[in-house]
Amino acid sequence: MKPVLPHAQLDWDDQGLPRSRVFDDVYFSDKSGLDETRYVFLEQNALHERFAALPAGGRLVIGETGFGTGLNFLCAWQLFEQHAVAGARLHFVSVEKYPLSPSDLQRALALWPELTLFADQLLAQYVAIHQGFQRLVLDNGRVTLTLLIGDALEQLPQLDAQIDAWFLDGFAPAKNPDMWTAELFAELARLAAPDSTISTFTSTGWVRRLLNAAGFKMKRTPGIGHKWEILRGVFLGWPQDVTAPAVAKPWFARPTPLTGERHALVVGAGLAGCASAASLAARGWHVSLLERHDALAQEASGNPQGVLYLKLSAHGTTLSQLIVSGFGYTRRLLEHLQRGVDWDNCGVLQLAFNAKEAERQAQLAAAFAPDLVHLVDQAQAQAQAGIALEHGGLFFPEGGWVHPPALCHWQASSTNIQWLPHREVLDLRKVDDQWQAWDGDVLLASAPVVILAGAAEIKRFAQSAELPLKRIRGQITRLAQTPESQSLATVVCAEGYVAPARLGEHTLGASFDFKSDDLTPTVAEHLGNLALLEEISPDLATRLHAQKLDPQQLEGRAAFRCTSPDYLPIVGPLAEHVTFADAYAALSKDARQVPDIPCPWLEGFYVNSGHGSRGLITAPLSGELLAAWLDNEPLPLPRAVAEACHPNRFAVRQLVRGKI
Ligand SMILES: Cc1cc2nc3c(=O)[nH]c(=O)nc-3n(C[C@H](O)[C@H](O)[C@H](O)COP(=O)(O)OP(=O)(O)OC[C@H]3O[C@@H](n4cnc5c(N)ncnc54)[C@H](O)[C@@H]3O)c2cc1C
Ligand SMILES: C[S@@+](CC[C@H](N)C(=O)[O-])C[C@H]1O[C@@H](n2cnc3c(N)ncnc32)[C@H](O)[C@@H]1O
Repeated sequence: MKPVLPHAQLDWDDQGLPRSRVFDDVYFSDKSGLDETRYVFLEQNALHERFAALPAGGRLVIGETGFGTGLNFLCAWQLFEQHAVAGARLHFVSVEKYPLSPSDLQRALALWPELTLFADQLLAQYVAIHQGFQRLVLDNGRVTLTLLIGDALEQLPQLDAQIDAWFLDGFAPAKNPDMWTAELFAELARLAAPDSTISTFTSTGWVRRLLNAAGFKMKRTPGIGHKWEILRGVFLGWPQDVTAPAVAKPWFARPTPLTGERHALVVGAGLAGCASAASLAARGWHVSLLERHDALAQEASGNPQGVLYLKLSAHGTTLSQLIVSGFGYTRRLLEHLQRGVDWDNCGVLQLAFNAKEAERQAQLAAAFAPDLVHLVDQAQAQAQAGIALEHGGLFFPEGGWVHPPALCHWQASSTNIQWLPHREVLDLRKVDDQWQAWDGDVLLASAPVVILAGAAEIKRFAQSAELPLKRIRGQITRLAQTPESQSLATVVCAEGYVAPARLGEHTLGASFDFKSDDLTPTVAEHLGNLALLEEISPDLATRLHAQKLDPQQLEGRAAFRCTSPDYLPIVGPLAEHVTFADAYAALSKDARQVPDIPCPWLEGFYVNSGHGSRGLITAPLSGELLAAWLDNEPLPLPRAVAEACHPNRFAVRQLVRGKI
């Protein structure tokens, strides 16, 4: 179980500057903080010139140890804004063990009025910053910030990125030697792009020697302010006398980036399709979004309310890591939508409805920070929920409900996205460099890239027919708000869930039916949902007059969830099935074999599906993951999580089990 990391503990000196209580050191030097940042990090990495030289569609990736108050990030962003052309992008990756609380961050950044324009945007998105990878999209996607929350030595090995410029800004080596070790510098070298540069405020001799040994060529250079000398350097390459870092297995390696036309077809306009379209559009791609219905979000993503609920594990599983990162990402997107109609951050209460659940909850509360989740006893739970409850449980203060169609609409609203309703794709054909989408003998659209986001329907295409996706029917019940039910103040979940009313109606859900193919709502499932309500709170059932409702008159909606056998989504590039089996046949004899054969990718063919019962949490971040695979960018998730979601995982497993 990972320790729970607290927020940074700060003291504010008599000039109003923050100081770390744990490290007994300053975040930046007194009055010259801005000048120092600009000189030590921006100038030594020649960022002015490098930003100015970026072409439209180009990008620069900066990596940093120690995000702190984000001052370096904001200064880099400001310089980028001043010198980079429209269409260029900045990607900033920073690792931070003790993130500042939002209020401390606000107080620290108020020190720099000239950065207000940028600081305000950061502060507006500095929400749900929890352990692991947290992606923030700023300035409509022109700037991406990926925060790795946790110890640098635990987080950086999970990063898959190519860093063009490194800022080393841990506290002083004497006060925080953990941030200046040979092990950590080897990670910087592993992640360095071929012409990567590096700088730091310290000139300590052993730091310089360790960086040199890691493959950087460091030079002392005159300092600024209190600093007599500082260090700058360039990456020469991985040292020859040190074993090279392991490379990804070929079936999980990055496909060669496509050159040429940046145009993608996205098939399916639910949460997964809209997220994929949004992430590509933000990177300057032209997207054709094809949907068989006349509007977005007509199937699983069409419920009036879905719950932002985190089914976590105390053991840091890949699924749990994905959930914490995905939740943070969705939660930040929602800040752009209208609270009360499109979503609400009313919190989510998960009741400890039996002893086993109570035990699981206690473990979770110990493994995660209280601002993500904490235990509440029965009295606290009732006070929070505004209704009588029989149990306490877990409370997720930043959770809530979402109207999924609103999120889809917001994500599909870029002018780079061409909306193509009434287009049912029956067949996909590759002709020359183009994927063609056909409906019978009608060519609907074509582009070098196609992204399948049609939930379980993607099995209809020959190329993706082998993906093991299953449909699970689910039905929700809509219940009219009553004067007595207005007191419900949070989402409450047991086996089912009920949300505070949206536009005069509560959503009560949801049934699971593994057999039925029919989407007509049934009375039996409405009755099942009412039983789930009774289990959540007999008091709420009374307030909603549940006993008096005529089951025949109940209204609701049914749709299919789409799940994979390991309950992780399927996101990324796909290989050609038969050639794949031939290429890696050796795996069926010896699973540890890694044949040195490049993966036979279906070039330009990508998948975003399998979001199960938690698409609100996983689908939006999956759009970013897909775009990162496509554009050869830093991944927004740990390597192991991206591999656990990779479409090729099933073919590998089948080979290993000798089933192909
Ligand atoms: C009853 C129920 C309750 C749920 N509750 C929650 C919840 O509380 N919280 C949560 O996070 N998640 C919940 N989910 C899950 C969530 O709704 C899904 O994970 C999510 O909507 C999946 O999005 P998607 O885009 O993958 O699929 P969909 O929304 O089903 O979208 C797929 C789209 O692709 C289109 N399409 C398919 N094939 C083609 C084709 N060949 N050509 C053109 N278009 C095509 C379809 O028409 C559809 O619009 C619930 C699901 C159900 C059914
Ligand atoms: C000098 S401050 C960074 C200042 C920051 N770059 C800025 O612009 O405000 C150093 C930061 O490193 C973080 N830190 C210290 N030890 C760490 C570790 N082992 N892993 C990750 N972050 C660490 C501290 O919490 C602190 O925020």
